[in-house]
Amino acid sequence: MQPAQKPESGVLFVGIDLGTSHSAIAASNGVRTTLGSYVAYPRDVISKKALGKDKLFGDEAVKHKHACDFYRPMEKGQVLYRDLDKQVNRDPLKTTQAVHDLLEHVVSLAKPRPDDLIYGVIGAPAQASLHAQKLLLEAARGVVDCVMICSEPFAVAYGLQFLTDTLVIDIGAGTTDLCRMHGALPSAEDQITLSAAGDAVDRRLFELMQECCQGAAFTPNMVKQIKEKNSFVTQRAAERVNVTLPVRGVPTQFDITEAMKQATESIVPEIVEGLHGLIAGYDPEFQAGMRENVLLAGGGSQIIGLDKAIERKLAELGGGKVRRVEEPTFAGANGALHLAQDMPAEFWNQLDS
Ligand SMILES: Nc1ncnc2c1ncn2[C@@H]1O[C@H](COP(=O)(O)OP(=O)(O)OP(=O)(O)O)[C@@H](O)[C@H]1O
Ligand SMILES: [Mg+2]
Repeated sequence: MQPAQKPESGVLFVGIDLGTSHSAIAASNGVRTTLGSYVAYPRDVISKKALGKDKLFGDEAVKHKHACDFYRPMEKGQVLYRDLDKQVNRDPLKTTQAVHDLLEHVVSLAKPRPDDLIYGVIGAPAQASLHAQKLLLEAARGVVDCVMICSEPFAVAYGLQFLTDTLVIDIGAGTTDLCRMHGALPSAEDQITLSAAGDAVDRRLFELMQECCQGAAFTPNMVKQIKEKNSFVTQRAAERVNVTLPVRGVPTQFDITEAMKQATESIVPEIVEGLHGLIAGYDPEFQAGMRENVLLAGGGSQIIGLDKAIERKLAELGGGKVRRVEEPTFAGANGALHLAQDMPAEFWNQLDS
């Protein structure tokens, strides 16, 4: 159902980016915040008593995951990373509940007043199936009063006012979403979703480190942290990447420069192929303009030198200019907030609780 009209006052607009690894919210009252997309429920009465609450989110959920049922509820089906982390619970019904709880918690972080009507735009992956969109709408019931689901890379471009002849590459954890902007709402042909994203880098780095750090003990989460601190793709490494890992309990240093370079480089070809496909399928008169306007967003855009590595590969296919957005953590949520404020009543779904 659509709301009859958008009220002028008593409304809190929120833009939400519900990501596989991070969620962010930007609200019209000025609140902006982010947290890890993790939810944990104490496993028994003892842990409930010790933790003093029945739901934990973000870092707190990670910290206590051994005493809890632990969820990464926005994780996408095809991602193999999950096979590495045996701690994550994947009961489908409870995962749906965890999405709802995560959304409720994220909205509470925006500190709405009790009588505020909440209008929320939620960013979803570019090619989220109708099924996934329906699940999100359901999860939003009882959390927001009116909701709109939009594609995440579209939200990024909208927030930065890059609405024509622009290509957005949003490199997240589970997926990289590409979206072509041509001045109107993008349709299915304008968007593609790839699995060449942060989790794929982690997976590759994990495998390569198993080879080059003989005898060392490490977890997927440690590998992710190492990547976030040290990742780069450049033709020649300016500095070596050395890490200290325990070998039978003894801290030992390993040089993982080559593994890091290979792991980050591994996602470039698929991204450039997707990019090229979207450009080639566009009106030939405007292809040149689009090539000059490639925006790199999402947490994965922070890999040092990735913009240049994509440019180099793109040069083999006709060239282009790749720029990084300034605020990868909030670009999606900010854009979703702008959309929430701009969209007229007919775009909204009114939810009765
Ligand atoms: N400094 C960094 N260098 C390299 N990678 C990073 C850095 N910071 C974060 N990342 C990676 O970015 C990814 C998360 O990006 P982001 O928060 O945009 O994803 P998400 O929105 O949660 O996921 P998705 O869009 O797939 O749902 C993770 O793989 C994370 O390890
Ligand atoms: Mg994202």
